[in-house]
Amino acid sequence: MYLKQGNHLFAWPQRISDFLIMVGTRKRSNIKRPIWILLVVSVTSIFLTAAYFYLPRSSASCFLFDSEACGAYEAVATRELTDDETESKVVVKELLKTPPVHTKKPKIAFLFLTPGTLPFEKLWHAFFQGHEGRFSVYVHASKEKPAHVSRYFVGRDIHSESVDWGKISMVEAERRLLSNALLDLSNQHFVLLSESCIPVRHFEFVYNYLLYTNVSFLDCFVDPGPHGNGRYIGHMLPEVEIKDFRKGSQWFTLKRRHAIIVMADNLYFTKFKLHCRPNMEGGRNCYSDEHYLQTFFHMIDPGGIANWSVTYVDWSEGKWHPRSFAAVDITLDVLAQISSLTECPHYTSDAQRTLVITPCMWNGLQRPCYLFARKFYPETLDNLLKLFSNFTSF
Ligand SMILES: *[C@@H]1O[C@H](CO)[C@@H](O)[C@H](O)[C@H]1NC(C)=O
Ligand SMILES: *[C@@H]1O[C@H](CO)[C@@H](O)[C@H](O)[C@H]1NC(C)=O
Ligand SMILES: *[C@@H]1O[C@H](CO)[C@@H](O)[C@H](O)[C@H]1NC(C)=O
Repeated sequence: MYLKQGNHLFAWPQRISDFLIMVGTRKRSNIKRPIWILLVVSVTSIFLTAAYFYLPRSSASCFLFDSEACGAYEAVATRELTDDETESKVVVKELLKTPPVHTKKPKIAFLFLTPGTLPFEKLWHAFFQGHEGRFSVYVHASKEKPAHVSRYFVGRDIHSESVDWGKISMVEAERRLLSNALLDLSNQHFVLLSESCIPVRHFEFVYNYLLYTNVSFLDCFVDPGPHGNGRYIGHMLPEVEIKDFRKGSQWFTLKRRHAIIVMADNLYFTKFKLHCRPNMEGGRNCYSDEHYLQTFFHMIDPGGIANWSVTYVDWSEGKWHPRSFAAVDITLDVLAQISSLTECPHYTSDAQRTLVITPCMWNGLQRPCYLFARKFYPETLDNLLKLFSNFTSF
C-alpha cells in the first residue's frame, strides 16, 4: 500500500523537474542557467521536505532512502518503539535464530494442567508404554495432590499454585510447567494438556508429527466478535494494537525455541496480566490463556506457528462450553472421525457466526489435524481403554 504511494509520489518530482527542464530549455535564452537549476533544486527540496513530514514515516523512508526496504518498513510501526519494546525485539530475534540443540534422544514433554487426579492416567499409560526415554511427564495440580496410578506419573508433580479459570494464574501455571520441562535439555517439544484430554493417535505418530516439523501448533485467528476483539482494551497500547489481537485455544504445543521465548517475555506477559482479565471496565471479560500467546506469537513469529491446535474440540453446538463426550458417545466411528479430519474450523463470535476453515498443512502437505481430543467425561475411561489399540491404529 505504502509502496504504491511511494512509487506514485516518486513520479512527481521527476515530472516536475522534467517540466522545469523543458521550460528551462525553451526559455534558455531568457533565463540564465544557474537560475533554473536553483529553481529545480528548491522545488524538489520543498517537495522532499513536505513528503518527509506529511507522509507516514515508513513510506517516507521508503520513498526517500531505500525502495528495496519498503516491504520491511511497512511492518515496522509508524511510531517510535519504547525502550522495553526494543529490548524485547532484540532478545526475541536472537532466540528465534537459535538452531535446535541436537540431542541423541530428543523427547517430547507432556505438560498436564489439572486441578487434581487425572481421570485418564491409565489411558496415557497405555499411550506411553514401550516408548520410555522419548517422553517426559510434568503435572501441575492446582487444587489437590493427585493420586497416581501409572509409574510414568509418579513423582512427576511440580510445584503448583492455585489456578482460577480465565485468570492470569492459568498462564502462570503454563509458564511453570514450561520452565520445569525446559530444565531437561532433551525436551524439544512441549505439549500442554488438561485432565479432560485424551490421545487419539499412537505414540509413534505423535512423536514424529511434533518433532519432524519446525512449527509450534498454536491456535490463532481473528475473531471480530465480542469474544474476540470485543475483549481488547486500549490500555494495551502502544505495544499491542487491535489489528494484532488474536484469539485461540489454550492447548498448545511449542517448539523449544518458542518455549524459551515465553520464559524471556515479561513485557507482553505483563500487558496481558494487567489488561486482559475477567471483570474489566465496560463489562469486558478477557481471558489471557486465549489471547496472550496467540497475540504474542502472531506478532513476533507468524510463520513459526501453525495457527491451529492439534487438540480437537467440538464448538459446533455454539454454546458457552464445547461439547463434552459421555460414555455412550465413545464408538470407533466417532474416534475415527476425529482422527481423520484434515481441516480445522474456527467460528467467529459475532452475530453472523462465520465459519472459517483452515486446511491443516504439515510441512507443506495436508495431513490429519489432531493428535489429542477434549473434552471427555471420566466415565468414558473404560470404553476408551477397550478401544485404545483399535482407534490409535487408524
Ligand atoms: C499463520 O497465519 C499467519 C497470518 O495470521 C500467516 O502469516 C502464517 O504464515 C500462518 N502460518 C503458517 C505456518 O501457515
Ligand atoms: C521451517 O522449515 C522450512 C523448510 O523445511 C523453512 O522453509 C521455514 O522457513 C522454516 N520455518 C521456521 C519458522 O523456521
Ligand atoms: C479391536 O481390535 C481387536 C484386535 O486388534 C479386535 O479383535 C476387535 O474386534 C476390535 N474392536 C472393534 C470394536 O473393532
